[in-house]
Amino acid sequence: MILRRYGPYAVFAVLVVVLFYGYTTRELQPLAAEAGQQTTNAHACVVSPRTPLKIVPTGDSITEGEGSSDYNGYRLFLYQHLMEDCADRSVEFVGTRRSGLSPDPSIKGLEETEGYSGWDIERLLNFSMDPIAQTLQREPNVMLLHIGTNNVAPLPLRPPDIVEPAQSPEKLEQLIDEILQLAPSIVLIVAQIITSPNFGWKDNTPIFNAPIPDMVDRKKAKGYKILTVNMSSVGTECVRDFDNSPVDCEDMNGDGLHPKDEGYRKMARFWYEALVEATKKGYFEPSH
Ligand SMILES: *[C@@H]1O[C@H](CO)[C@@H](O)[C@H](O)[C@H]1NC(C)=O
Ligand SMILES: *[C@@H]1O[C@H](CO)[C@@H](O)[C@H](O)[C@H]1NC(C)=O
Repeated sequence: MILRRYGPYAVFAVLVVVLFYGYTTRELQPLAAEAGQQTTNAHACVVSPRTPLKIVPTGDSITEGEGSSDYNGYRLFLYQHLMEDCADRSVEFVGTRRSGLSPDPSIKGLEETEGYSGWDIERLLNFSMDPIAQTLQREPNVMLLHIGTNNVAPLPLRPPDIVEPAQSPEKLEQLIDEILQLAPSIVLIVAQIITSPNFGWKDNTPIFNAPIPDMVDRKKAKGYKILTVNMSSVGTECVRDFDNSPVDCEDMNGDGLHPKDEGYRKMARFWYEALVEATKKGYFEPSH
């Protein structure tokens, strides 16, 4: 099975959630304790202190936010981290697609993504580069790339044209090359993807993830502002005893493929830490 497109059902489900629970399910709650730092408007931003952030979330349904209570996925949690870092910063999300319901219309573009439900890397390359190029023309300075979950499906469930997980990093490199050609100065954060407990996925994920850091380092050596973030710990505590047995764990939904809010919260934390690292590397310096 491939990550499915929920389409109108998702919109309906989200509306039902909103109607019954209002916006109270995920109010902007302090993350400072988790972040281990003070909540104050006074201190300078740790992440990109001088340059406003314009972020393009890119990938599959996990980027769209499928499985989260408000369909915002990691985006709202990441926004919260960035506002706790320093509240007077400017953060904007950009993308040609829409998903999620914003609890606060002043958050610019929270519902915008380049997340394509069901896409493996090759489909992203073949069918989504035009809209991605359009979004890159809006000059985002950060891309968060989490793609590959549909590439690591076990064979009976993977369309036969999807390359083996072991070859997928070559496809990922091709995708990254195209992105960097379109946006050579973007800060590109590439995820080693989260771990699905499902049969086949679980074993294939490390095969897909392993070569990513070296490939990213090769791009970095060429002067690109790129880095890896290792998200593979998200989902690892989940267990699926046999095919189609229930999955009940902190990070993942019952389908074993999409995070629930806790998993998305952890993803957001990883993205935030990667943005801290990118700042330390000087990636956000205007002269870089
Ligand atoms: C993607 O494009 C390549 C090159 O044109 C083609 O060989 C491949 O079959 C396409 N794959 C999909 C999934 O469309
Ligand atoms: C990524 O994280 C996993 C789980 O925490 C760890 O086992 C693995 O060694 C890490 N990989 C790299 C390249 O850091």
